[in-house]
Amino acid sequence: MNNELIEKAKKYVEALFEGESSGHDFQHTYRVYKTAMELARIEDADLDIVALASLLHDVDDRKVFPETYKEKLHARNFLKENEVDEDEIEIIIKCISDVEYLGVDSVKPSSIEGKCVQDADRIDALGAIGIARAFAYGGAHHRKMYDKSVDPIMNMTADEYKANTDGTTINHFYEKLFELEYLMNTVSGREEAHRRTRYMKDFLTEFLEEVEEVDF
Ligand code: ADP
Ligand code: NI
Repeated sequence: MNNELIEKAKKYVEALFEGESSGHDFQHTYRVYKTAMELARIEDADLDIVALASLLHDVDDRKVFPETYKEKLHARNFLKENEVDEDEIEIIIKCISDVEYLGVDSVKPSSIEGKCVQDADRIDALGAIGIARAFAYGGAHHRKMYDKSVDPIMNMTADEYKANTDGTTINHFYEKLFELEYLMNTVSGREEAHRRTRYMKDFLTEFLEEVEEVDF
């Protein structure tokens, strides 16, 4: 493995995300990298591709870096500057582009490397950390935690998903997070997604009990 370049990528992402607290921090990237590498070993995927794609998967995120999102300029320039081969750059950029969740228009990656990175990113939206990230995101975007009178919008298209800026965080559980376990690509990814989803459903049961009680 190209350990020197991987270490450089870690440092690059850490510097880029300094000060970011809406759920897209370096810690998220690092967890996705760790999980993606575990999946990659099980799936016998190319470890360098998975390492670089997972470390760079959010450096051109639609919401944090809208100006570089389309061309994936941060990732592309980092790889170019570090003399990665043109075709390898395209493979890594494809993995990164396919990661994004876009409602019913989400892409199923064609390569096993892309599948590992997408599964890892989705696993980090689930479980205890997934709950924490959802509320951190909701707070940063001034969303309500919960509103009984607002129904979740199911099966959103990419455009609807992007335009949905005033839903509640609890609705996000139904709209996206509980769907993720059915969209996993790898067997071990799906098992972990299922385990974490069960935990979130227990949390939600408890949450709704506590919140509804004060209505009486
Ligand atoms: P997405 O593509 O769904 O925006 P991201 O990975 O960019 O997903 O989002 C970062 C984190 O913020 C994830 O944990 C995600 O579940 C959470 N998040 C995204 N949209 C919302 C929302 N509308 N309400 C609450 N949390 C959200
Ligand atoms: Ni991510």
